[in-house]
Amino acid sequence: MPGYIIVGMQWGDEGKGKTVDFLTENADVVVRYQGGNNAGHTVVVNGKETILHLIPCGILHERTTCIIGHGTVIDPAVLIQELDDLEAAACQVDGRLHISEAAHVIMPYHRIIDGAQERFRGKNRIDTTRRGIGPAYADKANRTGIRFGDLLDPETFKEKLRTALEYKNMLLTRIFDEEPLDYDEMLGEYAAYADRLRAYASDTVEILQEAQSDGKMVIFEGAQGAMLDLDHGTFPYVTSSTTMSGGVFAGAGIGLGQIDGVIGIVKAYSTRVGEGPLPTELHGEDGERLREAGKEYGATTGRPRRCGWLDIVPLRRAAKMCGLTHLVLTKSDVLGEFDTLRICTAYKIDGVKIDHFPNMLAQLEKVEPVYEEMPGWKTDISSCKSWDEFPKKAQDYISRIEELAGVPIAVISVGPGRDQTIVRQDPFA
Ligand code: GDP
Ligand code: IMO
Ligand code: MG
Repeated sequence: MPGYIIVGMQWGDEGKGKTVDFLTENADVVVRYQGGNNAGHTVVVNGKETILHLIPCGILHERTTCIIGHGTVIDPAVLIQELDDLEAAACQVDGRLHISEAAHVIMPYHRIIDGAQERFRGKNRIDTTRRGIGPAYADKANRTGIRFGDLLDPETFKEKLRTALEYKNMLLTRIFDEEPLDYDEMLGEYAAYADRLRAYASDTVEILQEAQSDGKMVIFEGAQGAMLDLDHGTFPYVTSSTTMSGGVFAGAGIGLGQIDGVIGIVKAYSTRVGEGPLPTELHGEDGERLREAGKEYGATTGRPRRCGWLDIVPLRRAAKMCGLTHLVLTKSDVLGEFDTLRICTAYKIDGVKIDHFPNMLAQLEKVEPVYEEMPGWKTDISSCKSWDEFPKKAQDYISRIEELAGVPIAVISVGPGRDQTIVRQDPFA
């Protein structure tokens, strides 16, 4: 019953979509277990780009079963759009996608409250995706959320929506100075979503456990990245779910013994979209060069991503907390034009060197990166097909990351396409 978790090691957008797609060749089942349509996972097959927000990237492999698990939050309108887009692209989804009836539903008031809270935060805003993610998870924790199974049962939904809307309308009008939402209108809108999505609802834990018993190979597709984890990320500039590998146990409904490996995805430099600490951020020309060369614009919101050098300090910590067995290094091809590359190996706070990632924002705001410099290779490596084809300087850079992170780099991605991937070591062995 092989089970492998794939997680982002930084602030999201590390290339999880590309990696999951590449590794799905070996998988029978792919599972999303946390997050919602704040995620944007890009897959490029034969030059055609698909961006998935909720549906696991495994959907692009015909024989793979896909699961949206308990721990996710689902915006039905976005999911339906995604289903329609896949159908239009001749991707057969029916019979292959199963959605947990226990996943929580994102409602219109979640999106409005997300935006209104950002307004109230003013200069301290998180710069969320405004997709209603935080407010939907808050309702789950508060035990007032509406689950996917509730949405599908007309009587339950009527009742739950009535109670929820009564309270949310007070919040919207009296606290946030917004317009109230109409019950009948929302009931009609969501009833139509329920009809469209009913066929996908399942007890996904049963499906997953059966797959595991049958010896099927399961990949768990993480969303966001370790530094956006609600507990371990750069709080409060984080998302509202457990993005570390541990999120899989509650979010998919499996046990510790059902995991054989954890594969961390790390981009050869750092990016972050939205506010919050990014210790190695480059504000000048180098930052812009990275953004342009790496096409660093959000796959969900189109926002320009902030860019900086690779930071080993959070990577080392996340690698341990996630229990990584292997790393996948993405986008090293983007560094091809730089004369000198820098890797942050430690920080200084008030002149004192530290080598751990601080928990508290006040400290994170003060850290100064301590860099190690390496010469750039100054060539295009995007068509390299093997480790031996890499220039020596690129090999040295990659080997140094491996050494500093303390985890073997099993796969190196040198471009968005499936064929731009070099396997040095089988991460499933
Ligand atoms: P995810 O959220 O982790 O799935 O990452 P995104 O899809 O948001 O962003 C990664 C972007 O980089 C996408 O546009 C990918 O097509 C692209 N990409 C992935 N791997 C590589 C790579 O190795 N090199 C280059 N140049 N682009 C890549
Ligand atoms: P993938 O899966 C990058 C960021 C938002 C914001 C913060 C909180 O594509 O890597 P939220 O809407 O979740 O409440 O926003 O988290 N964020 C992401 N950044 N990639 C993502 O997903 C992200 N999902 C959320 O920009 O800073
Ligand atoms: Mg993304």
